[in-house]
Amino acid sequence: MSTAPNDLVLFLGRFHPVLVHLPIGGLVLLGILEVLSKVRRFKGVAQNNGVIIALVAAASVTTALLGWMLSQAGGYDPQLLPLHKWAGFAVAAFCILAWLLNWLGCPRAYRLSLAATLAVLVVASHLGASITHGRDFLTQFAPKPLRALLGGGSGPVVAPVPAADLAQRPVFKALIQPILERRCSTCHGPEKHKGNLSMESYETLVKGGKDGPALIAGKAFDSPMIHRLLLPLNDDDHMPPDGKPQPTLAEIAALQWWIENGAPADKTVGDLKPSPEIQRILDAAQAGTK
Ligand code: HEC
Repeated sequence: MSTAPNDLVLFLGRFHPVLVHLPIGGLVLLGILEVLSKVRRFKGVAQNNGVIIALVAAASVTTALLGWMLSQAGGYDPQLLPLHKWAGFAVAAFCILAWLLNWLGCPRAYRLSLAATLAVLVVASHLGASITHGRDFLTQFAPKPLRALLGGGSGPVVAPVPAADLAQRPVFKALIQPILERRCSTCHGPEKHKGNLSMESYETLVKGGKDGPALIAGKAFDSPMIHRLLLPLNDDDHMPPDGKPQPTLAEIAALQWWIENGAPADKTVGDLKPSPEIQRILDAAQAGTK
């Protein structure tokens, strides 16, 4: 990494997810008021839209700037982030345009630009939510046809395997990957690469992060990932960070056993000849991944 971002920038950036709801609420309100004002009974409801759009424009510019600050922290999806950034700046720009048109007294042009702002807003919000919650946050539990229509993920990437089959299954795919997916992938998965570390595949896990490989085959206790798992919870380097779901003892032991045995990509559990004690641990770790 080149120069580290300033603490103040990072501090202020954290307010982006809070403030972002203000322009969203304001814009939706303005849209509703415009529609309502077409109904005779509610004719005057949009009278104060000049004040609201001025506030919303100020809030959206501030939100966009805070978002830019937050992005300096790094670790966000490299594909989604630039799209979200530009969509966010576009919302702010359209807001200013709408405010100007309103101020200049051009109601039709104002309504058009408000509609355009709302359209860009939907895109920007969806991209933002995908960055924070994962691409398939909305679609994960959607009914199947709807999921296909929305292009959502196909559900869990790694299907759980019945424990009885475990001996014939590749250790990494059947046991290790589901554990990493459950415990680490929100920050080291396809969406985010905190510390530049992605556990999306065997290759990216072995490649490691900004401080080098996450594991040393054959040496579990020298491997940064095991070392960090075993640190006290209140240690800054502990993984997963305090407050996030923690792996079970069986899961940690399974990871440790796999690395100690050379962290093979394709060997089956049977190949590594687990002792009866280890077999029990593996069964427990396996049960947890269902
Ligand atoms: C809530 C987010 C989060 C989760 C979940 C998480 N990590 Fe991390 N991880 C981070 C952050 C942030 C960093 C970078 C800061 C640091 O190095 O401490 C990091 C860095 C690392 C690094 C060092 C990478 C490098 O080269 O600098 C390792 C190894 C690691 N994590 C392992 C894991 C493992 C193993 C899990 C799952 C058991 C996990 N992490 C779960 C946020 C997370």
